[in-house]
Amino acid sequence: MPTASGGWFETARFGLFVHFGLYSLAARHEWVRSRESMSQAAYDRYLERFDPDRFDARELAREARRAGMRYAVLTAKHHDGFCLFDSSLTDYTSVRAAGRDLVAEFAEAMRAEGLRVGLYYSLLDWHHPGFPVDEHHPLRGSADGREAGDLSGYRAYMRGQVRELLTGYGDVDLLFFDFTYPGMGPEQWGAKELMETVRELRPGILVNDRLGIPGDYVTPEQYQPDRPLERDGVRVPWEACHTLNGSWGYDRDNHDFKDPSQLVRMLVQSVSCGGNLILNVGPDGRGSLDRRARDTLRAIAEWSAPHSRAVHGAGPSSFRPPANALYTQAGRRLYLHLLAWPLTHLHLPGLAGRVRYAQLLHDGSEIAFHEVDGTRHEHNNLAPPSQPPGTLTLTLPVARPDVLLPVIELFLEEGELAS
Ligand code: GLC
Repeated sequence: MPTASGGWFETARFGLFVHFGLYSLAARHEWVRSRESMSQAAYDRYLERFDPDRFDARELAREARRAGMRYAVLTAKHHDGFCLFDSSLTDYTSVRAAGRDLVAEFAEAMRAEGLRVGLYYSLLDWHHPGFPVDEHHPLRGSADGREAGDLSGYRAYMRGQVRELLTGYGDVDLLFFDFTYPGMGPEQWGAKELMETVRELRPGILVNDRLGIPGDYVTPEQYQPDRPLERDGVRVPWEACHTLNGSWGYDRDNHDFKDPSQLVRMLVQSVSCGGNLILNVGPDGRGSLDRRARDTLRAIAEWSAPHSRAVHGAGPSSFRPPANALYTQAGRRLYLHLLAWPLTHLHLPGLAGRVRYAQLLHDGSEIAFHEVDGTRHEHNNLAPPSQPPGTLTLTLPVARPDVLLPVIELFLEEGELAS
């Protein structure tokens, strides 16, 4: 069985999630059909208007790459059942609606930019007649609600579509199934058989954990872990998935945007806890990124360019950071991320004698440091020792560097253990 541990996924650390579909035209959350209990006929107005003339996968790939993302995951099918790929098993596709196989465009564009390709596939399907009208279904409680569907037919449909996705689009690196809930779980999905099909077709692929059986990594959603995640005492690879504004699909009137510096902190916090971050964009009704999404990605890109090595290929450190700071580590390079900028002196416990050189990462400017046994305040030798032995003290410029999150790169002495 493949493992995400130590492979491309953990080196990549940062990914782009793309939610696009008929709901993008409604522009009020990807669950709009369920939230507003819309009939299929009412929802079909988006199908009739679907025209992704501004969906440009190559541009998305470039923006992602510049932002420091190393993989990307597109909604091949979301809960509404609409497929962004050429499926022989349904007419409900972007190919029939607009002559565009968006999964093909996406996979090709991402690979061309050197990004790994992931596909999201919804286990829920409010369009398929075999899917039961349950509590999430738009037709719940309505007169035209169907009886419990023919799940075995739906299972065969899912297996068939997953086969299409894994055979028609080159090397797919990752599958994100979504999601399991009470009453709809591994048995209903035929999770074991589905997983076997996936592994047989693409032995190296990574699969998430939302089929309700263990996958290769776990997926905390809109929640930021602050420590490594473990299953039965063993650390597991994980990926926190986050939105820009609380909605996955384009949500025009929702202005609850996270600040780029907050997003960078979330990325670094993930890496410092051995996890990844996948950040979502919801292209608009014509397939384009709106200003807010584009500006956010560009702001992150400006940070990522000089700070890449503190993220890509880095992981948690066994050193304990001072207050208001996080460590990431890659071999003998220890990265100190300063969430708040202290005045002149920063004391690092346990690092005396272990650091050979220090610099600000964004501009490669040297940072002086010293070690004093039982450190005393400079110019006041009568003051009691303020730091325990073993402390290394950095001398920082007074002005905080003008980057979203300042990082100091500490080169550890030879012999210091890698993280
Ligand atoms: C949830 C939502 C879904 C979204 C997903 C992303 O499961 O149902 O709309 O695609 O999270 O992780």
